[in-house]
Amino acid sequence: MKLEAGQVAVVTGAANGIGAAVAAALVARGLRVVIVDIDTDALEATADELGENALAVPADVADLAQVRALADRTLSEFGRVDLVVNNAGMGAGGPSWEIDPAAWDRVWAVNVGGVVNGVHAFTPHLIAAGRGHIVNTASLAGLTVGLFGAPYAASKAAIISISESLRGELALIAPEVGVTAVCPGPVDTQMFRGLAELADPDAAGESDGMPPEVMAKLAPMREAIAEMAKESLPPARAAEIILAAVESGKLYETTHPGMAQAARDRTDMILESFGTPDRPTRTAAP
Ligand SMILES: NC(=O)c1ccc[n+]([C@@H]2O[C@H](COP(=O)([O-])OP(=O)(O)OC[C@H]3O[C@@H](n4cnc5c(N)ncnc54)[C@H](O)[C@@H]3O)[C@@H](O)[C@H]2O)c1
Repeated sequence: MKLEAGQVAVVTGAANGIGAAVAAALVARGLRVVIVDIDTDALEATADELGENALAVPADVADLAQVRALADRTLSEFGRVDLVVNNAGMGAGGPSWEIDPAAWDRVWAVNVGGVVNGVHAFTPHLIAAGRGHIVNTASLAGLTVGLFGAPYAASKAAIISISESLRGELALIAPEVGVTAVCPGPVDTQMFRGLAELADPDAAGESDGMPPEVMAKLAPMREAIAEMAKESLPPARAAEIILAAVESGKLYETTHPGMAQAARDRTDMILESFGTPDRPTRTAAP
C-alpha cells in the first residue's frame, strides 16, 4: 500500500520505542495517526511531540471492548482507517517453570490478544473500504527460541502464525488488504534496554543474589545479549524498514537479516530430527 497524506493510521504501543517512531514517520508523511497506549503520561508527551496530526487514545489492547471503542473512535473522528499497526508488546522472563502463570497470561493477553483484538476490530473496515494494510509486530524471537523468555518467544511465534493465516485469508477475500509480520531484531528501546541490562553482571544476577554456579551457566547468554546490543538499531531506522515493507507489500520483514541464520538453523534442526521415509530418525516416536 502506498502511504499518502490524508490516510489514517492506528498505532498501538505508540507512546514509546518502535511504535512512537512509526507514528512519527507516518506523521512526517502527512498521515493522521491515532496513537494508542496504556502509558498515558508518555502517550500525552508523544502526542505533543507529534502535533495536531496525532490523536492520543489511551487503551489496553488486551481488552476487546477498548479496542472496539478505539475502532469506533477512529472512524467517528476521521471517517476512515488505512493502516493498523498492532505493535504493543511486553515480555516476561525467567525459567519457564518459575514464571508465574499470571505473567504468562498477561503476556499472552497483550501480545497475542492485542493482535487478535486489533485484527478483529479493524479488518472488517479495511475489507469494506477495499484497501488498507495491517502490521503485526512479532520478533526474531518468534522464529528462534531464546532461553528464559518462553512466554515472549511463544507469543511472537503465535503472531507470526496468525499473520500468515490472515494474509492467506485476505488474499482470497480482499486481496487489496495487505498484511506484514515484522520480526525485529534488537532495537534500542526501553524494552531492549531492560534485556541488555541482564547482560551486565553488576546490574543483574549477582545483585539479585544468584548463586555463582547459576551465574556461570548464564554467562554465554549474557555474552549473546551483549553482542546483540552492539547491533541494535535506533527506533527511527526500524520504523523506516517497517513502512518500506508496508509500501512494498511484504508479508515478512526484519530489521536484522543478518540474524536470520539462527531461524534457518532452528528450522533445519526440527526438520532433520523428523528424518525422512528413506532416512528414519534413530529415536522412535512415542
Ligand atoms: N526493541 C526490540 O529489540 C524488539 C525486538 C523485537 C520485537 N520487538 C517488539 O516491538 C514492539 C514494540 O516494542 P518496543 O521495543 O518499542 O518496546 P517499548 O517498551 O519501548 O514499547 C512498547 C509499548 O507498548 C505499550 N504497551 C504495553 N502493553 C500495552 C497494552 N496492554 N496496551 C497498550 N499498550 C501497551 C507500552 O506502554 C510501551 O509504550 C513490541 O511488540 C516488542 O515485542 C521489540
